[in-house]
Order: sequence, then structure tokens, then C-alpha cells
Amino acid sequence: MDRRKAVAMLNKYVTTPHIITHSYAVENVMRALARKLEPDSEDLWGMAGLLHDLDNDLVDWQTDMSLHGPKAIEVLKEEGFGNEAMYSAICAHNPANGSKIESIMDRALYAADPITGFIRAITLVYPDQKIKSVKVKSIIKRMKDTRFAAGANRQAMKSINHLGIEFSEFAELSLNAMVEIANEIGL
Ligand SMILES: [Fe+2]
Repeated sequence: MDRRKAVAMLNKYVTTPHIITHSYAVENVMRALARKLEPDSEDLWGMAGLLHDLDNDLVDWQTDMSLHGPKAIEVLKEEGFGNEAMYSAICAHNPANGSKIESIMDRALYAADPITGFIRAITLVYPDQKIKSVKVKSIIKRMKDTRFAAGANRQAMKSINHLGIEFSEFAELSLNAMVEIANEIGL
């Protein structure tokens, strides 16, 4: 599995700019989580993050959310890319398709997906709208303020606890992972 091929597929199938930047953000959070939990699988975890929304522009979210995940796997198989562990994580990040979280990587992606959007939303309320200005403590504070970014799946983010990681640590790791690629993700 080659990251250049993964990036080429992302650009081939996803044309929505904010989904592309979101994909890079999830990739880097997944890499950071892998370095902590399964260092030998960093590339695999990163590419699962990069490709988890590959079918974003191919499924009709209004009428059939259950295709989000399975459709991405269909495309990946057509392209001859990925493995079962990657397919499992991509499927399990969307419980609406009926799949269950089983592996550590499944859990990591389920939590990493919403936290990137949440940190992005927090960045955009800062006066300079720069992720470098965001503090871990404001992520924790906003987590408790359920009116803020009400659609963010807090339960999914908090479920990182199942991997023995405190939410505050996850917030810091995710923030740092996004700061590293601030330019690429437009923050
Ligand atoms: Fe996503």
C-alpha cells in the first residue's frame, strides 16, 4: 500500500474541498494514535484515516447513509487497494451501515473522525482563526458546552477511553497532529 496511490484516489473520488482537508486531518490524528498504540501499523492507520470518507461524493447522504462505508470499500477493492483491517475500520466509523467496532484501529478511527471537525470548529471561533492559537483546555471546555458544535459526536470522541487514553490526552494529541499540517488543512 502506497500513500501516493492513496492520495491519488482521494483526489480522484473526492472533489469536495473540505472533505479532502478533513481526510488529511484524520490521517495525521490516526498516525499519532498509531505511534502510541500500534507503532508498526502507522502507515495502515494513516491510510485508513485518509480514505475513510472516499465515498463521500458517491453516496446520497440524504437517502441512504447505510451505503457510507460499504461504497468506499467497493471502490477500494476495484482499485486493488487496502486490506481487511482497513475495510473494517472504514466500515465501522459509520454505525449507520450496521457494522460494529471490533479492532483497536476501528475504535481509533471512530474517535478520530469527529474530533478533527470539533477542533476545526473551535479554531474558527478564535479571533485569528489559527489552529496554533487553540489550547487543549478550550477543547475540554467546549466538550462540556453541548450547545457548541451540537452535531459533533461527543460520545464517539470520548470513546477513546476504551483504548486506555484519557480524553484530555486525546485532545492534545489530535490538536498537535493538526497543528503539524496546519497549512495543508487551511487552519
Ligand atoms: Fe470523516
